[in-house]
Amino acid sequence: MDQEAAKRAAGEAAALLVEDGMTLGLGTGTTARWFIEAVGARVADGLQVAAVATSLASAALAARQRIPLMELGAVGVDLAVDGADTVDPDLRLLKGMGGALVRERIVAAAASRFVVVADESKLRSHLAGFVPVELLVFGWHHTMTLLDQTGASFELRLDSAGEPLRSDNGNLIADGAFEPIADPEGLAARLDAIPGVVGHGLFLGMADLVIVAGLDGELRRLEPADGAPAALS
Ligand code: A5P
Repeated sequence: MDQEAAKRAAGEAAALLVEDGMTLGLGTGTTARWFIEAVGARVADGLQVAAVATSLASAALAARQRIPLMELGAVGVDLAVDGADTVDPDLRLLKGMGGALVRERIVAAAASRFVVVADESKLRSHLAGFVPVELLVFGWHHTMTLLDQTGASFELRLDSAGEPLRSDNGNLIADGAFEPIADPEGLAARLDAIPGVVGHGLFLGMADLVIVAGLDGELRRLEPADGAPAALS
């Protein structure tokens, strides 16, 4: 099995968690895509669901699959499924390489159950690498100065034309390389405290279940050690 097949296996396994009448959160990226397609196949067979998409791209995919879309309401959703860039042994996540991190966090936090789908390459002994941050255009130069004081050098993410990438929310995305992230909770708190930062890619204590597909075809289910995720941060 290659990596794409593993992503597909994880996404399709998550789609089996969907029950008739549920409201869903649809993640973003090349793994969540397989979840959306698998839900679409079940909708074609008569499954009744309504879904909130975490990006314009996922909304477009869901529409092609004829999955009914809705706004995120006051009561949240029953189940959100999304990918991750890195998963550590405590099921802490790095997300956001797809640039949808803010909507992804809003939907994950609003879900009764947040399930992560990943191929085994995403499992690491510790969080390290790029931490994406979404920031307001207003004052962005100074926001970058404050970001650089967190221990990494942040750079604006560029689009294919070499221009600063805009998120679906119209904001900028910056990435800071951390090798490794010694204190994820501390870093998350520092990023949250910076005016102008709308959100970041550290999803800590949020995952209720991680479905990991190995290249050998094996599916593993990782759950928080105490059976319940830690407080949101
Ligand atoms: C999107 O903003 C991201 O958080 C993705 O969920 C994450 O980058 C994983 O994407 P892939 O499944 O494409 O690796």
